Amino acid sequence: MKRNNQPKWLSDAVFYEIYPQSFCDSNADGIGDINGIITKLDYIKELGCNAIWLNPCFVSPFGDAGYDISDYYTVAPRYGTNEDIKRLFSEVHKRDMHILLDLVPGHTSVEHPWFKESLKAERNEFSDRYIWTDSIWEEPDKMGSLRGISDRDGSCAVNFFSHQPALNYGFYNPEKKWQMSTESEAALSTIEEIKNIMRFWLKMGCDGFRVDMAGVLVKNDNEEKSGTVALWQKIRKFLDEEFPDSAMISEWGEPDKALQGGFHMDFLLHFGPSHYNDLFRCKEPFFSSRGKGDVSAFVEKYKENYEKSERKGLICIPSGNHDMDRLERSIKGDNLKIAFAFLMSVPGAPFIYYGDEIGMRYVENLTSVEGGYDRTGSRSPMQWDKTLNAGFSLASPEKLYIKQDESDDRPDAESQIADENSLYNEIRKLISIRRSHSALGNNSEIEFIYAEKNEYPLAFIRSSEDEKILVIINPADREVSFPCEYKPKEVVYSFGKEIACEDKKITVPPCSAGFYRI
Ligand code: GLC
Ligand code: CA
Repeated sequence: MKRNNQPKWLSDAVFYEIYPQSFCDSNADGIGDINGIITKLDYIKELGCNAIWLNPCFVSPFGDAGYDISDYYTVAPRYGTNEDIKRLFSEVHKRDMHILLDLVPGHTSVEHPWFKESLKAERNEFSDRYIWTDSIWEEPDKMGSLRGISDRDGSCAVNFFSHQPALNYGFYNPEKKWQMSTESEAALSTIEEIKNIMRFWLKMGCDGFRVDMAGVLVKNDNEEKSGTVALWQKIRKFLDEEFPDSAMISEWGEPDKALQGGFHMDFLLHFGPSHYNDLFRCKEPFFSSRGKGDVSAFVEKYKENYEKSERKGLICIPSGNHDMDRLERSIKGDNLKIAFAFLMSVPGAPFIYYGDEIGMRYVENLTSVEGGYDRTGSRSPMQWDKTLNAGFSLASPEKLYIKQDESDDRPDAESQIADENSLYNEIRKLISIRRSHSALGNNSEIEFIYAEKNEYPLAFIRSSEDEKILVIINPADREVSFPCEYKPKEVVYSFGKEIACEDKKITVPPCSAGFYRI
């Protein structure tokens, strides 16, 4: 089925998220860079990932790790040059892989020249590029604002941190004089600028975008998010005309709306109503071996989204990302393998956060770096091997821009590649199984058959035109059973002991996961 003209490569994509400052430092300045990434592409491909999401790598004061952009058209010098990233694109393509950049359309840095112009009291081309009220005494609702920092009489809305002024895409139902409509010249010109930025990078060779805070661009939007959906439909039209093979994945958390807006896939978020944290990041996560978790609320919500988006399972469930705790902070040992058996068997493109494939740990008690705050512990430099700085950088350790995990037994990629029982090798196996079974593909169907409140295991069926696979996941360290009318015929994957099938009942061993053709 063709969905929002989904590019063909996306149906088979398994993503690896690279946080550029922490991946690989090629010039010993203590910060990762693009040339470093290029030297690690074979590693990513060897793991089985065929696509990359690169976090923002543009000129920025780095008050929010680069999500505060001051020049959308230029690679931050600490990462390299536009020529370097062009080479990255071609090295990625040489390996039959694809790469998404991070598009941050909602806000800029306060240092962006547009903002500096818009601060001026005299009207100019950029006066309405951001959301301003018309009096310093009036604040734009809810979002917070920047006030009293220039001669301009007004307050400017911010989107996230107070140094990230909100770009103006208009208000859904303007009520006040200073609120512009989504069809105002100012709002339309912001959209044109975003298109120019997208065009610039797509022409250079990137394959699409992960879009930051995609659902909150139009302000005072209604419940259906009609204003923001309509905005993205304009962008969809532009992409269909000019870049039909590019992919768009949203950080939105409402797949029905995102897909309507022309995105190909949407992320499940770790905040809001998704219940994602019930699985991995709460006091008693479902994937912990204690077996005291509850998967049912997550599954209910998932099913609701699945139905609302016309049974398009285009909800990406990431292993983690730069905004949340490392998976390993709450899921330990073999249970990480079981968590990945789940992540590699659900619909939507999988996303592996760099280092999660080797069980990198959340580094406790770090002082905030680049606006990370508690997120900083999940952003520590990649651990490649047992050499200086775990092979991340040749700089002296105190020069690393974030401290590494200093424990003696910290995991590293080289050791895990060599150990056939490692998490890395289990994930490698899982990716290869996923990619060789159409039923496990990104767009294939899912039907949950066992997901009861406070019960284990979790069981579902994935199906494509030519096969059906039953997936059974039991993170709990006790044997469990569930009623099942399907008879497993052939083992596609199994971790842990074998299941036992008798008369419409399957007994599942402790801490196990299995995929079975039915
Ligand atoms: C997104 C990013 C996050 C950033 C925020 C503001 O949630 O993932 O890292 O701080 O947007 O741009
Ligand atoms: Ca560097």
